[in-house]
Amino acid sequence: MIYLNGKFLPAEQACVPVLDRGFIFGDGVYEMIPVYGNKLFRLDEHLRRLQNSLDAVRIPNPLSPSEWDSMLNELIQRNGGGDLSLYFQVTRGSALRDHAMPENPTPTLYAMCNPLKAPAPEVLEKGVAAITREDIRWQRCHIKAISLLPNILLRQEAVDQGAAETILIRDGHATEGAASNIFVVIDGVLCTPPKGPMLLPGITRDLILELAVANDIAHCEQNISPNDLVAADEIWLTSSTKEILPVTQLDNSPVANGQPGPLFHQMTALYQSYKQHLRAQ
Ligand code: PDD
Repeated sequence: MIYLNGKFLPAEQACVPVLDRGFIFGDGVYEMIPVYGNKLFRLDEHLRRLQNSLDAVRIPNPLSPSEWDSMLNELIQRNGGGDLSLYFQVTRGSALRDHAMPENPTPTLYAMCNPLKAPAPEVLEKGVAAITREDIRWQRCHIKAISLLPNILLRQEAVDQGAAETILIRDGHATEGAASNIFVVIDGVLCTPPKGPMLLPGITRDLILELAVANDIAHCEQNISPNDLVAADEIWLTSSTKEILPVTQLDNSPVANGQPGPLFHQMTALYQSYKQHLRAQ
């Protein structure tokens, strides 16, 4: 079952007009929220980021926070609950094709659930490969826009090389992955790039920093250079669907000894216990 503009429908019955600006221009924003045991993970934070994205592109928010809450929870129930990845997008709606924004848009709101697969144990044991590439995206990467063609091209380069993710380099700094944030461990300090227009403010990223604070793990938010990546003891990718993934090969060379590091194991345990608390609430 999906949700489209106020109705819950079987996916095959859902239709969007061909003039929808999401279809024509990629003119819309989205969120992806993991659901653990029927519970939405950090809903308020996701709704805040959604609001920031909507404000940045001047699309009115079609629902209030409590309407979002009840719609998303009803969608979870109608899909049998459990562990799900919940995707939703808001586009600027239908209008005759013109780059300029229509004056009084009626946004299109679409939401769907898919089964959420926890990262496979062998992936967590061995880690994944990543490659680095120049960040070819625009300069407002903090907006979670549905127009993702550069991210698609960049991720596919990783796939073509048998790697899991592409880490993006802009102006001498590693910003994030094609669909993930990045962390490195250097000299025992956990580091991630500071928020700004060149990267998405990941909800998983923020939780990891909170867990670092709560557990006295040395950490910082500072720029990461390509040399830092090469010298790092650990590199992680984080996202709502990947959680925390250790990168053990970068551009065909091992990261440190080529094994997931001790801080990765510590943070994953903290993250899993945070999830357990959420399930138990
Ligand atoms: N992407 N950076 C980019 C470019 C992303 O697309 C994502 C997530 C993240 C991590 O954000 P979060 O921790 O809030 O999931 C960082 C989602 C999962 C996607 O597009 O499927």
